[in-house]
Amino acid sequence: YALKPHNTFHFNVYADYFSAPKNSDEIIQVLTNPLLRKQPLFILGGGSNVLFKSDFKGFILKPDIQSIRIIKQNEQSVWVEAGAGIDWDSFVAWSVDKGYYGIENLSLIPGNVGASPVQNIGAYGTEIMNVITRVNGIFLDTLEPFSFTNSACDFSYRNSIFKNKLKGKTIITSVEFVLGKQGKIKTDYAGVKEEVFRLGKPTLKNARQAIINIRESKLPDPELVGNAGSFFKNPVVKSAVANAIALDYPDAPIYKVDDQFAKIPAGWMIEQCGWKGKSMGNAAVHKNQALVLINKTGKATGEEMLALALEIERSVKLKFGIEINKEVNVV
Ligand code: EPU
Repeated sequence: YALKPHNTFHFNVYADYFSAPKNSDEIIQVLTNPLLRKQPLFILGGGSNVLFKSDFKGFILKPDIQSIRIIKQNEQSVWVEAGAGIDWDSFVAWSVDKGYYGIENLSLIPGNVGASPVQNIGAYGTEIMNVITRVNGIFLDTLEPFSFTNSACDFSYRNSIFKNKLKGKTIITSVEFVLGKQGKIKTDYAGVKEEVFRLGKPTLKNARQAIINIRESKLPDPELVGNAGSFFKNPVVKSAVANAIALDYPDAPIYKVDDQFAKIPAGWMIEQCGWKGKSMGNAAVHKNQALVLINKTGKATGEEMLALALEIERSVKLKFGIEINKEVNVV
């Protein structure tokens, strides 16, 4: 089964078995199939955060639940349950269209609703953990349903229980959000305010459009050039380490996390190491945002991408003494 349309790097890889069930009953049905039950299993979302090293010898299950349901509402807020298979940006578009605030800054992030809590997607000052009320799914071993509250999900920067304790143990079927019927758009992140006002008034629609414009100017469109967004996480380091870097590089864009820690953009360090726009075989570093690795020729393999990533990790370690970790999931 060809996985090329199911991974945004567009790697030409295959899986032995593939199924895209449309509801929880169908999921349970395929998971109780004796032949499939024996296979190594991988749950795939939109394929926008996964790097297939090679063909997958096993069963790929891609939940394709598409329903949106309003659970309840009052004057200020609306509670919405969205199916795991819904394209994330279509859900943001729906929400902005209805006039619901809370996820407009997460416009144009590739992937599906069901994958969004796993790595707590975030951009431009918003993280999805701010608006999630529940994550619903099925435990893979017992096939029993679960419904986790926000705090049970253990969210933190690009992280959740689904990436740690429960890695590979659950399948998410739907996510519940609380969105505002009134609200104020968030324009604190560098460049957002300017773009909103360039478009006109600070409305919800203009906030979404501003984010779309900013992303399109910096990030490659995965439809055209294979990529998985940020390839690395931004490392959080001790303040003393950040201060030492700031001495050597007065223009370093360092963000204070708290009194003890600071975040250093990996993209900035990678650019300082001279990688921006550089290629290694068919894999390359994007010319506008060094945090994004691309399938430049369309012919790259997962191994080539990992070889480039390793060289980048080495040079950042050599120049800054900092280890950067991958954000993409290597399979
Ligand atoms: N920078 C450089 N060179 C680069 C890239 C960045 O100097 O090649 C500098 C920028 O000038 C800026 C700072 O680094 O001062 C931060 O850059 P940017 O605003 O582009 O954000 P980022 O930290 O590189 C993070 C997220 C993105 C998200 C943006 C906007 C992570 C791993 N990445 O990137 O998320 O869109 O902030 O909020 O936290 C993703 O996860 O796939 C993703 C695209």
